[in-house]
Amino acid sequence: MNTLETIAKRRSIRKYLDRQVSREDLQKILEAGLCAPNAGGGQRSVICAIQNRELCAKLGRLNGKSMDRRRLTGSFVSAEQPSLIDDPSIQSGFYGAPTVCAIFAPSNFLYSVPDAFCCAENMALAACELGVSSCIVARAEETFENEWGKDLMKQWEIPDGYLPRCFVLLGYVKGDYPPPKPRKAGRSRIIE
Ligand SMILES: Cc1cc2nc3c(=O)[nH]c(=O)nc-3n(C[C@H](O)[C@H](O)[C@H](O)COP(=O)(O)O)c2cc1C
Repeated sequence: MNTLETIAKRRSIRKYLDRQVSREDLQKILEAGLCAPNAGGGQRSVICAIQNRELCAKLGRLNGKSMDRRRLTGSFVSAEQPSLIDDPSIQSGFYGAPTVCAIFAPSNFLYSVPDAFCCAENMALAACELGVSSCIVARAEETFENEWGKDLMKQWEIPDGYLPRCFVLLGYVKGDYPPPKPRKAGRSRIIE
């Protein structure tokens, strides 16, 4: 696939097989994240890939609990790959993905959040290119906002003053890979 084909093919996957991502593919995906554009060239974001099932499950439950469904009434995400918004019976915000990458960035830097999401998108595209499915997930700050989460960040040697900004789930799609979503019309302009 060339880059444009990969961009068109990538979808957010929320149904995963019980099959782990290889170390070789994971390294390539992490490298793609580290190559993302970043404000001021500061390369501040730090990515932590978690391949421990119990850790992923516990963090996923905390992530799911942190979602305030009341704010999203009427929203709809996907029929083929339902999210927490679509299916209230889903408890884990990580949907059973075997690998969860948490992206951390400084709390006191204006572009810390966009930096982290640029890493996330690079990772999602690299994963797609390698045949690995992915989903970018929010509510990272809330997920680690507890003593256990803060302790994990210390254990993982996340620098002081850093906050979790987003997650990238990785794994292999269970069932059919969904087709591209149709694009809403009228969202781009070329001004001459
Ligand atoms: C900033 C951002 C936050 C997102 N947060 C979540 C999330 O918390 N949970 C989730 O299941 N998907 C999340 N997504 C994925 C979107 O739901 C998904 O990109 C969107 O529905 C379009 O579908 P597609 O990625 O399959 O094209 C997020 C995407 C972005 C860009």
